[in-house]
Amino acid sequence: MLLGLFGQEGYMTIDPKNVEAILSTHFEDWGLGSRREGLYPLLGEGIFTQDGRPWKHSRELLRRQFARMPYQNLKVFDEAVNNLITGLLSASDGIVDLQPHFFRFTLATTTDLIFGEPVHSLGDDVQDHFSTSFDYASMISAIRLRLADFHWLYKTKKFRNACGVVKKYAKHFVALALDDMKESREDHDSGKHVFIHDLYKDLKDPALVRDQLVNVLIAGRDTTACLMSWTFFLLVRHPLVLDRLRREIAAIVPETEPFTRSHIAKISYLKCVLNETLRLYPQLPVNVRVALKTTILPSGGGPTGTSPVLVRKGTGVGYSVYHMHRLTSLYGPDAHQFRPERWEGTDLERKVGWGFMPFHGGPRICLGKDFALMEASYGIVKIIQTFPGLRLPPEVEKEETGQERQNLTIVVTSAEGCKVLLR
Ligand code: HEM
Repeated sequence: MLLGLFGQEGYMTIDPKNVEAILSTHFEDWGLGSRREGLYPLLGEGIFTQDGRPWKHSRELLRRQFARMPYQNLKVFDEAVNNLITGLLSASDGIVDLQPHFFRFTLATTTDLIFGEPVHSLGDDVQDHFSTSFDYASMISAIRLRLADFHWLYKTKKFRNACGVVKKYAKHFVALALDDMKESREDHDSGKHVFIHDLYKDLKDPALVRDQLVNVLIAGRDTTACLMSWTFFLLVRHPLVLDRLRREIAAIVPETEPFTRSHIAKISYLKCVLNETLRLYPQLPVNVRVALKTTILPSGGGPTGTSPVLVRKGTGVGYSVYHMHRLTSLYGPDAHQFRPERWEGTDLERKVGWGFMPFHGGPRICLGKDFALMEASYGIVKIIQTFPGLRLPPEVEKEETGQERQNLTIVVTSAEGCKVLLR
């Protein structure tokens, strides 16, 4: 579909063939366009704002970190999961909104991972100031992204200050880790600041290390929090699904034993529930790439819309994962409904191919996919085990899936949060 905006032409597509060409088969023909300038005040020089050779370098650097991260046995999530459960246990007996709890949870896990320090190590005031500034800076960055080439229209003092607070916070942790390194207080390869040490050894500039950390922080926090929030949003509206998941968890995970990856692998219905949630509410619902040279999209042209389309250098192409994931041509007439069983015993994932891409695909596929699925699964299982009475409050309205009010910043959240009764 050809669109015009502020005198510039661009395309919008929901055809998996086109998205595959952009993200994979013709990857080299496409770049991030104005995303770099839109996100630069907050993210600086990092994997999310880079293309070409600098991106390749960042990708390799961060890929190495994810490959060696110590989350394989899930122990690194223990403290954050315990705090999540303690927070919920002390919540009121009335309606509880799970969404803010999940944002705190994923901030803690991501901070721990990249800074090597628990989130509360700076005290509540600094923590709150950071969180508010991070939220504000992310929200304005999302607006700047949508303004595309007109991003410069939105650069207020408040925004600059918020970006400054986020950078100062990350800078503090970088300094702490580098002090430990200089004073040889820590083993470089296995100490708690290994993520920062490794980046520094390569980048040799604390400001560049800081920027990469903020990039991973923004990638990791809101996306996973929203996945957890939408999962419970859907589960309490589909009590039969929740019931089945609860029974499967009870049969596979003894409450007294430590929770491991092999438990997650065995709860096959959890994978179906997560896939179905990621399908209906992909956390990055829309995205854009810009042609770096004149290139071809395989579909959308000619009288029937099935011929290739010539895309000139500099033209932007938006793609909506949200709409692609709801195509009846791929998922059948009940594509708009929450039905985790559709993923069961079928090879749906292979059949739909690029029609299911919550983590995207190709060379820029999400680096934190496994990390996100492990932390979300752990948190979800613990909540279901701890609260057998979890349900939708009778006074909360139950709209058709997809008809609820949503907020779109960089991610898509439920505007009403995720309200439940825990007991
Ligand atoms: C449910 C949770 C998550 C979802 C749905 C998700 C989705 C995505 C998507 C769609 C992209 C591609 C963006 C683009 O190319 O424009 C991406 C990239 C990325 N994600 Fe995730 N993500 C999640 C969690 C995480 C976590 C927890 C981390 C790290 C702790 C992370 C780290 C990254 C990084 C570093 C990239 C950049 C990759 C690159 O440009 O080469 N993500 N993610």
